[in-house]
Amino acid sequence: RIKKIRGYQVLDSRGNRTIRVKVETYGGVSDFGDAPAGASKGTREAVELRDKDGGVTEAVRIVDSVINDALRDFDVLNQLAVDRTLLKLDGTVNKSRIGGNTTIATSIAVLKTAAKSLNIEYFRYIGGPKTRYTPIPLLNILNGGLHAGNMLKIQEFIIIPKDFDSFSDALFASTTIYKKLKDLITERYGKIYTALGDEGGVSPPLEKTRDALDLVYTAIKNSGYEGQVYIGMDAASSDFYNDGVYEIDGKKYSPDEMIDYYANLANEYPILYLEDPFNENDFDRFATLQSKLKNTIVTGDDLYTTNVEYLKKGIEKKSTTGTIVKPNQIGTLSETFDYIELAKKNSIKIIVSHRSGETEDHFIADLAVGVQSDFIKTGAPARGERTSKYNRIIEIERDYGLEYYGKRL
Ligand code: PGA
Ligand code: ZN
Repeated sequence: RIKKIRGYQVLDSRGNRTIRVKVETYGGVSDFGDAPAGASKGTREAVELRDKDGGVTEAVRIVDSVINDALRDFDVLNQLAVDRTLLKLDGTVNKSRIGGNTTIATSIAVLKTAAKSLNIEYFRYIGGPKTRYTPIPLLNILNGGLHAGNMLKIQEFIIIPKDFDSFSDALFASTTIYKKLKDLITERYGKIYTALGDEGGVSPPLEKTRDALDLVYTAIKNSGYEGQVYIGMDAASSDFYNDGVYEIDGKKYSPDEMIDYYANLANEYPILYLEDPFNENDFDRFATLQSKLKNTIVTGDDLYTTNVEYLKKGIEKKSTTGTIVKPNQIGTLSETFDYIELAKKNSIKIIVSHRSGETEDHFIADLAVGVQSDFIKTGAPARGERTSKYNRIIEIERDYGLEYYGKRL
C-alpha cells in the first residue's frame, strides 16, 4: 500500500524545470516517475501545470498535499483505481486543473513502484510473460523545425534500421550512419555545421527538405546499409501551416499540393514512415496520402494526442496506419493502455515516443517492450536522455533473449 507520495522540481534535457514524483510503500519500496515536455505540442494535449516563471512549484505542492492525501493507503497494484482518482481530482477534460504533467509523473511512479514491490521488471508487469519482441527504433538523426536553430521546416529526419538480427545490431548500425552523417556535413559545409538539436540529431543550417534527405540518404548508402535501413520524417506540419497554406522550402503550398509534395519525396527516397504530414485537423488529407503511399506508414501524433476520441475518428476515416503514443499527451497510464488496445484492435502500428524535453527516466523503453509496440521513437543514438532508453532495451534484449521485430514488419 502507498505510504507517501512526494513531488520534486527537477531538470529536463533543455534545462527547463519539470516534475518528478516519488511513491513509497509501507513495505519500504519506492520508485519515481518524471514528466517529459514537448515543444511542438498538439493543441488537444493534456495541459501542463506551470508557474508563471516556468517552474512547477504549484504542481509539486499539489502532489505533496492533494494527491498524497487522496492516494495514501491505496493498493499500489491497483493502477486503474489510482488513475481514476487522479482523473476525479482533476475533473477537467484536458487535465488543466492539477496538470497532465502532475498526473503522468504520479501514474508512472505508481506503476514502477508496483512492479518493484513484486520484484519484477516494469515491462513484465505491463506485458506479462508473453513478451517476445524488441521494437524497431526510429532514430531522429537530423533535427529541424522547433527543435533546431536552422530553417528546415520538417522537424525530424529519421533512420529506421529494420533488417537486422537484433536490436543491438540495428542500433549500432545507426551509430555508424550518425557518425557518417557528421563526417559528410563536415566535408560539405564545415565542422561548425555539426551542432546538435534538442533530440541529439545534427541541425545543419539548411533550408530545403531535399538537402536534408540527401544528406541522410547519402550517409545510409556510404555506410553500406542501403536496403536495410529506411528513412522516416516527422513533418510536425502544424508548425508551418497557417490559414490554409503550408510554407516550406521557401515556397507556399496548398494542402492538395502538399499531397504531391510528399508523394514525390516518397518516390525519390525510401520513406517508410511519415508523421504529421498535415495539420492536426486535416483527417481527410492524411487518409488521401495514406491511400496513395502504400509502402509508407503515415502516422498521427498531434493528430491524435494519444486520445481515443481522435483515434476513433482516424480509424473511421482511415487517416493513418500508425499512431504515436506519448503518455504525457493524455496524462495517465491507464488511458494510455486503453489507447494502445484500441490501436491494436484496428491494426494501427504503435510508436511509443519520448518528448523533445526528456529526462533520464527510461520508463518508455519498458512501456514499449511491455505493450509490444512496433516502434520506439526516442531521438538520436546520442545524449544521455535518449541513450538511456535505447540502453535499457539492450539490457532487456540480453537478459530475456527477446527477438528483434524488424524483419517481421
Ligand atoms: P515534441 O516533439 O516532443 O517537441 O512535441 C516530438 C514530436 O513531434 O514527435
Ligand atoms: Zn511528432
